[in-house]
Amino acid sequence: MTAPLPARDAIRIAVIGLGYVGLPLAVAFGRRHATLGFDIDQTRVAGLQRGDDHTRELSQDELRAAAHLRYSADTADLADCNVHIVTVPTPVDAYKRPDLSALEAASRAVGAALQRGGVVIYESTVYPGATEEICVPILEAVSGLRYREDFHVGYSPERINPGDKQHRLENTLKVTAGSSDAAAAFVDALYRDIVEAGTHRVSSIRVAEAAKVIENTQRDVNIALVNELALIFDRLGIDTHEVLEAAGTKWNFLPFRPGLVGGHCIGVDPYYLTHKAQEIGYHPEVILAGRRINDSMGLHVAQRVVKLMQQRGIQTAGARVLVLGLAFKENCPDLRNTRVIDVVRELQSYSIEVDVHDPWVAAAYAQHEYGLTPIDTPDAGAYDAIILAVAHTQFRELGAVGMRAFGKPGAVLFDVKAALPADAVDARL
Ligand SMILES: NC(=O)c1ccc[n+]([C@@H]2O[C@H](COP(=O)([O-])OP(=O)(O)OC[C@H]3O[C@@H](n4cnc5c(N)ncnc54)[C@H](O)[C@@H]3O)[C@@H](O)[C@H]2O)c1
Repeated sequence: MTAPLPARDAIRIAVIGLGYVGLPLAVAFGRRHATLGFDIDQTRVAGLQRGDDHTRELSQDELRAAAHLRYSADTADLADCNVHIVTVPTPVDAYKRPDLSALEAASRAVGAALQRGGVVIYESTVYPGATEEICVPILEAVSGLRYREDFHVGYSPERINPGDKQHRLENTLKVTAGSSDAAAAFVDALYRDIVEAGTHRVSSIRVAEAAKVIENTQRDVNIALVNELALIFDRLGIDTHEVLEAAGTKWNFLPFRPGLVGGHCIGVDPYYLTHKAQEIGYHPEVILAGRRINDSMGLHVAQRVVKLMQQRGIQTAGARVLVLGLAFKENCPDLRNTRVIDVVRELQSYSIEVDVHDPWVAAAYAQHEYGLTPIDTPDAGAYDAIILAVAHTQFRELGAVGMRAFGKPGAVLFDVKAALPADAVDARL
């Protein structure tokens, strides 16, 4: 007989991986249900126990509001729970292949804690099929239990957007799926408890996995098209944003903007889909072409700035350039897969001395990830070029005049994000 799902009043949740996705989820459940926030990173757990969230997604008050949430780095505590939700990272390796090691490790830890009737829900972004082809066999092997007979599995991809205070877990419709009708209904009801915007239940885990991975693939490909337009219009001497603004007056023109595509979602998730496609003998063309264009934009930005400097007679070797922003996006301390680093490295290859300033980023984190220490305060009147790379609110408030104050007379001001008025900068992407 199929093991019964946990009764509603007996639900004890564990969230495994307390990052940008896991912490808000644990806090939302911890307001209503007995919840364990689990992470292998003891420093992270200790920080949360003190009420300190380094991702800056949640305030101390929000953390405190989760009265039924406790934190642990001890896998033994997972055994007390009957609903395990996995929110660990799913990056790519140096060859852009899916790195499922955290997902596999988390599945082993959950498998060791799993009991008859337990539910394991995955939220990590994967390719269609990964949950049932990779995670479920690990759960079965470690627990000795049988999938669908003894335990249940769900998938509910996360849609949060780090640094975005508008689109939150609570007000964003959530896709849900389960290993059987009953499991899907259980998973759906669980999320409806915390997501005011409601849920969208689909017929299988594979559909939910595919839906998530194409959300970001679609954005990636659309941005790649606009980036390619920017490369063309640059050669034609036309301002891309003015063209986009004009085309955007048509009702069905999509509002994408050129830019550096970084972070661990848009620039990474498409590789999960292309990996699976290649495994089944289909060679994706559009998706990978888009990835190549987006990955080349950092070089393009650096080369344009170098060209502008040379056109003004500024000798590049030994010149000083200030890059404003290192995070992968605005108003967020996240450095994962930031493509600003491509701009920095390309400039350095011209023997340019590059200072990076980012009030959102911890210097030690930048040093650890990229071997680069951002400066606290840029020097006044010191730079030959200034690049606005990330449109943090602090930089927008500084404005073009404030940024130019860091430059020598005649310095180049380049706006990657089109955050400043066109006539206040020397060029923009
Ligand atoms: N951040 C986003 O905007 C976002 C949005 C949607 C989906 N996702 C997906 O959600 C997943 C998690 O992303 P994130 O941004 O929250 O990652 P993150 O790096 O912010 O956090 C992951 C946490 O998991 C912990 N961890 C790693 N391995 C573990 C293990 N074996 N057991 C327990 N904890 C472990 C890490 O210590 C870290 O604290 C990824 O698959 C990502 O693609 C992220």
